[in-house]
Amino acid sequence: MLRTIGLMSGTSLDGVDAAWLETDGHEIHSFGPSLTLPYDAALRRDLRAILDLAPTLDADNDQLADATDRLTTYHVQAVEAIRRPADLIGFHGQTILHQPHLRRTWQIGDATMLARRTGLPVAFDFRSADVAAGGQGAPLAPVYHAALARDLPKPLVVLNIGGVANATWIGRDGSLVAFDTGPGNGPLDDWAARHTGARYDRDGCLARSGRPDKLVLDRMLSHPYFGRPAPKSLDRLDFDALFAESGISNLSAADGAATLAAFTVASIVCARFPENPVRWIVCGGGRHNPVVMDALRSSIHVPVDPAEAVSWDGDGLEAQCFGFLAVRVKYALPLSFPETTGARKLVTGGRIVSATD
Ligand SMILES: Nc1ncnc2c1ncn2[C@@H]1O[C@H](COP(=O)(O)OP(=O)(O)O)[C@@H](O)[C@H]1O
Ligand SMILES: [Mg+2]
Repeated sequence: MLRTIGLMSGTSLDGVDAAWLETDGHEIHSFGPSLTLPYDAALRRDLRAILDLAPTLDADNDQLADATDRLTTYHVQAVEAIRRPADLIGFHGQTILHQPHLRRTWQIGDATMLARRTGLPVAFDFRSADVAAGGQGAPLAPVYHAALARDLPKPLVVLNIGGVANATWIGRDGSLVAFDTGPGNGPLDDWAARHTGARYDRDGCLARSGRPDKLVLDRMLSHPYFGRPAPKSLDRLDFDALFAESGISNLSAADGAATLAAFTVASIVCARFPENPVRWIVCGGGRHNPVVMDALRSSIHVPVDPAEAVSWDGDGLEAQCFGFLAVRVKYALPLSFPETTGARKLVTGGRIVSATD
């Protein structure tokens, strides 16, 4: 058993999540505290700008180096704020580019600095080995979802709604199917920021006050991504060109928000699995949006419950996952599988840097 602190900063750019966990990389022995450290507005703005620049950015770009430094400092502070001894850190880093078809996935963050400043070994670079093995490099959560769901009735779907949404289907025999279903909160966050100045549509108030536009929604759902078989994964900005052509910019703030929330839900509902699940469990920030949750419940005819219904930590779950995966890196256990990322084989990924490296 190892005590680990997992760190996840998702595509929503809202901040870094940290969570403590004790595990052997197979079973979860005990859960500890979790927390979110929100980024300051300047870092969020700079990271958002970097997302747009990333395809043409050099790794030694000054702006990138500066943002990486500030980002890593937040991670150091998140580890300190957990206030529990640990043996290992799992450091996902901030994804600024995800183009698996070009064999590229890019997470920023300085693992060496994090190790030195916390005095702990740090597992990082979880995705690139999978991409090098022909995989999507995402999602990596399925093996953790399966460990969490060990004693729950199956088939089961675990849905994570972050900036992008991803689903893990777990069969009766433990088999896994996983993929990004489509956008999660990302487009709605951007829309809310543009129209209201708020970081996201809190409690779905804006979306609730509008009506989805059927024509715009149908244009969005015509994206070829939805017809593609799994495994498949998305970049946070993959749908931006589609949004520009969809006519959404002509809608009112409320109707646009309603349309984007409906788009997230429709893209989740059209996901197909080998066998119908008996239940959906939802984690990630999207489960706090009642417009999204209500619409999911009215379209899916089995229970759709937030993570808390099965005593999981819905906000800390992704961070726990990277602590769990860090331990799997340490023990050279696979992180991904042909069924979850499309890699040609089981892939043990990640690297570990020690505090004295
Ligand atoms: N009260 C809320 N109402 C609506 N949406 C919320 C609420 N709380 C969080 N969210 C959504 O959750 C997002 C953060 O989710 P998170 O799981 O951290 O995503 P990521 O993993 O991409 O960082 C926010 O950007 C927002 O869209
Ligand atoms: Mg987040």
